[in-house]
Order: sequence, then C-alpha cells, then structure tokens
Amino acid sequence: MAESQQGPRVSVLFVCLGNICRSPTAEGVVQSLVDKAGLSAFVRLDSAGTNNYHQGEEADPRTRRAAAARGVSITHRARQVVPSDFEQFDLLLALDVNNEAVLLGQAPPAAKASVKLFRSFDPDSPARASVPDPYFGGVEGFEEVLDQCERAGAGLLAELRRVYGF
Ligand code: 4NP
Repeated sequence: MAESQQGPRVSVLFVCLGNICRSPTAEGVVQSLVDKAGLSAFVRLDSAGTNNYHQGEEADPRTRRAAAARGVSITHRARQVVPSDFEQFDLLLALDVNNEAVLLGQAPPAAKASVKLFRSFDPDSPARASVPDPYFGGVEGFEEVLDQCERAGAGLLAELRRVYGF
C-alpha cells in the first residue's frame, strides 16, 4: 500500500473467525520473523475476525501461553474485519477455507485477488489447507497452530522479499 519512503511497503491482515486464537498467532509469529529479519519498517501486520463475538478481548490465554513459550508475544485485541480493510491491506490471508469464503463474499471486486489462504505460502502444505480451529480442543491444537503458522510465515516472508525486493 503506502509507497512513501518511510512507510511500510506491504501490509498483511490475517483473518480467522474469532480473532483470539489463529489469526493473532499468525500475526505474532510473522511479526517475530519480520523483526528478526530487520524488516519491520517494510511490513505492516494486523489481524481480525470475521465475527465480533470476542471484540476487544485479548487473545485466548492458551494462545498467548503457547506463543510465549516460543518467544512470541501476543498483545493484540480482537476486532472484526471492516470494509476499509479491503482497501488498507495488500493481502488478506485467511486462516481457513470458511473464513476465506466469507472474505471473498465481502470483498469488492478489485480486492478479491488480495484474499488468499495463509497456508498456501507453505510449499509443503497440501493444496487448499486450513489452520484448524483449536478453540474447542486441547493444548496440542495450539501447538499445531503455531507449527503451521511458523511454516506458512517463513514462506510468506520469502515471497514478500521476492515480490517487494527487500
Ligand atoms: P479463532 O478461534 O477463530 O482461531 O480465533 C475461535 C475463537 C472463538 C470461537 C471460535 C473459534 N468461538 O466460537 O467463540
């Protein structure tokens, strides 16, 4: 989006259902990768949910605990996707196929191409793979979310470097 010399060169919004488990994890994991690569001036990240059940809440304690154990801090407060997100973000990355469908249903025609599945950036993931919702399961689900976000995040960063040249 912003083409100014100082501003971020690319912006990415991660989107799940509640914005308290998967998409804040994706945001936190990728932010950590971006920071380690020294690219925080070039990449702007945020996350949102397609519903508003948890609007304003911190991420699920299980999400924050599992991420913290890997050195990833999650401070995000849940918010719902708003129409301006389709103009503000270069990429809207859905954590699963259901939320991808919701985004595609809401996106104005010009923004549909910016909606993708996050795991499509992991070259080793199956086609059309989702990050499963861990909310109603055990702690192992939160570890799986982190594993999948780390792999997809590495692929995403490699692709952004290639496309944007940083
Ligand atoms: P998320 O997980 O979409 O990864 O944030 C969920 C959080 C809350 C609910 C469902 C999924 N819920 O039904 O409240």
